[in-house]
Amino acid sequence: MDERHPARHRLPLPHRGIAFGGDYNPEQWPRQTWAEDVRLMQEAGVDLVAVNVFGWAEIERSPGDYDFADLDEVMDLLHAHGVHANLGTGTSTPPPWLTAAHPETLPVARDGGVISPGGRQAWCPSSPVMREHALRLTGEVARHYADHPALALWHVSNELGCHNALCFCDVSAQAFRRWLADRYETVEALNTAWGTAFWSQRYGSFDEVLPPRRNASATNPTQELDFRRFSSDELLSWYDAEAAVLRERSDVPVTTNFMVTAHIRTQDYWTWAGHMDVVANDHYVDHRLADPHAEVAFAADVTRGLAAGNPWMLMETSTGAVNWQHRNLAKAPGELERTLVTHVARGADAVCFFQWRASRAGAERFHSALLPHAGTDSTGWETTLRVGRLLDALDEVAGTRVEAEVALLFDWQAWWACDEDGHPSSDVRYLDEVHAMHAALRRQGVVVDVVRPGADLSAYRLVVVPTLFLVDDTTASAVEAHVAAGGRALITYLSGIVDEHDHVRTGGYPGAFRTLLGVHVDEFLPLDAGEEVRLDDGTVATLWTERVRPRGARVHARFTGGPSDGGAAVTRHRHGRGAAWYVATRFDEPGRDRLVGEVLADAGVAPILPDAPRTVDVVRRVADEASYVFVVNHGTSDYLAPVAGTELTRGRRARLHRVAAGGLAVVRQEPLPTDDKEDAA
Ligand code: GAL
Repeated sequence: MDERHPARHRLPLPHRGIAFGGDYNPEQWPRQTWAEDVRLMQEAGVDLVAVNVFGWAEIERSPGDYDFADLDEVMDLLHAHGVHANLGTGTSTPPPWLTAAHPETLPVARDGGVISPGGRQAWCPSSPVMREHALRLTGEVARHYADHPALALWHVSNELGCHNALCFCDVSAQAFRRWLADRYETVEALNTAWGTAFWSQRYGSFDEVLPPRRNASATNPTQELDFRRFSSDELLSWYDAEAAVLRERSDVPVTTNFMVTAHIRTQDYWTWAGHMDVVANDHYVDHRLADPHAEVAFAADVTRGLAAGNPWMLMETSTGAVNWQHRNLAKAPGELERTLVTHVARGADAVCFFQWRASRAGAERFHSALLPHAGTDSTGWETTLRVGRLLDALDEVAGTRVEAEVALLFDWQAWWACDEDGHPSSDVRYLDEVHAMHAALRRQGVVVDVVRPGADLSAYRLVVVPTLFLVDDTTASAVEAHVAAGGRALITYLSGIVDEHDHVRTGGYPGAFRTLLGVHVDEFLPLDAGEEVRLDDGTVATLWTERVRPRGARVHARFTGGPSDGGAAVTRHRHGRGAAWYVATRFDEPGRDRLVGEVLADAGVAPILPDAPRTVDVVRRVADEASYVFVVNHGTSDYLAPVAGTELTRGRRARLHRVAAGGLAVVRQEPLPTDDKEDAA
């Protein structure tokens, strides 16, 4: 198969094109409302709703006493109106009777405090009692609905680990010990991996090991890292247990909703992704970030990476404001469409919202919804109808794949390790550098595949490795092999510093990449808060410098002033048939844009639309028989996109398409005769 023109790969859902839907919580409403709900869903074109996500207390009013009558009625109504169900197992939040009877299932915080019920997800992921109850419910739900005609997808729990990812209770401690015994086999191996010769921490047996609870000073970094790995695995095993119960009774695909976002980092989704029949993400525009739409694009690219490049599902997003930021901003005109099309451009073939009807009661009553409090006589409802039409117009892109020549190596474990305490500068935050590099590539009009550590990089011209603090030998070798074979790499400061045990790689930084980069760093020289240094090419740098001694690399830019005055700041090293670039500081935006432009040119990567301004986002999705160019204009001026073909949202055929400021265009590329009338309307 030609990699650049793959066959279509459809989500295993009973949909023709892009699925459209939302979370539907009919249990919050009287029965009379349900008929109106399904009628309006039909009117809007909603064809997939998540039900029974928080249904446990409704279905199992007392232990073992299951009552599906209401949910039956809802499922039947949905089916009668052509709406499919993304059916929750309902296990995400236990009913009060369960936590009252079993307070030992409640999670415990790092400081020993017990987390009370009253919100949601107040359960310890390692609790056998909770697991037993949850699997019993899952079994009942599966038995009851396995053959229901509305069922399209099983939705395990909800956002596993959103609130309870790390539990420090005694039951978790025992599970942690079992996990460690599995990983290390002998306590001596654990002692070596954790470096327990330091501070008199040597363990005599696994029984002495604890989770990294609050202590008198600083925690052992490898203990902390392993606890995060364990905690991610623990919830994955929870998912697997529920999925196994479902799969025993049904062939319908199983998934759960990931949280690939800027503020949650508790799951290592690289290890989770292969367990999903459909990769699904929940993503909300985060107006607290400096560039919220750059983060939307990044999260979508990560999710596509998790789906191994195949289409994925946006399980939750919001039409307007959320209710959990400090100031919950409404979306600006056109912002919702640009956000959704950004997700679709980057591989989403299902677009669903939290939630269908805005709640009247409960903690989320001021969260936007497809059907707002005001009802259908509202701008919100008009928006919903518009979104339905927009997604309809994009139906034909479903199953196509995104084209990218650049890979960005991203890793949750490196994130955990990088952001630990006790480092040279706590101003270095992994995600800041990852976001900055991704955003710079996007501003250059280049599409990026986000890839896992150790991934085969042969399909890419350039691999970008931002601040990959922790790296194992396999991953370092994959980057090296990519360059040796003729590729390019761009690696930024504080990469390759520790191995998978969080132990420093000695003999000069950046340990794992030293030979590839042809440099030897013997001291970190981080900058003070607000301190800036200049490079001899005019770039302003902050946060970080280091003493770089070239060992074969050519110096591309030097520090002028600051603690590394006169030393190398940017280097390029020929290695095998390729070359590796190193950046030993944090660039300002213009400097980063300039450098990324140079590296892209060196790698032979050209933007899809070279004349597009930096504020215009361009992505191409292709299949064997078709190619679609997505143009999303976040800027304040119109842009004329030179893409011959039919623009899907307006149905216009032309060689030049006007993309209004704040607007978008999706063009099916078609060869048009040169004398064809240009239509830039
Ligand atoms: C998600 C969650 C939904 C809802 C939504 C609000 O984290 O899965 O149930 O709470 O956020 O934005």
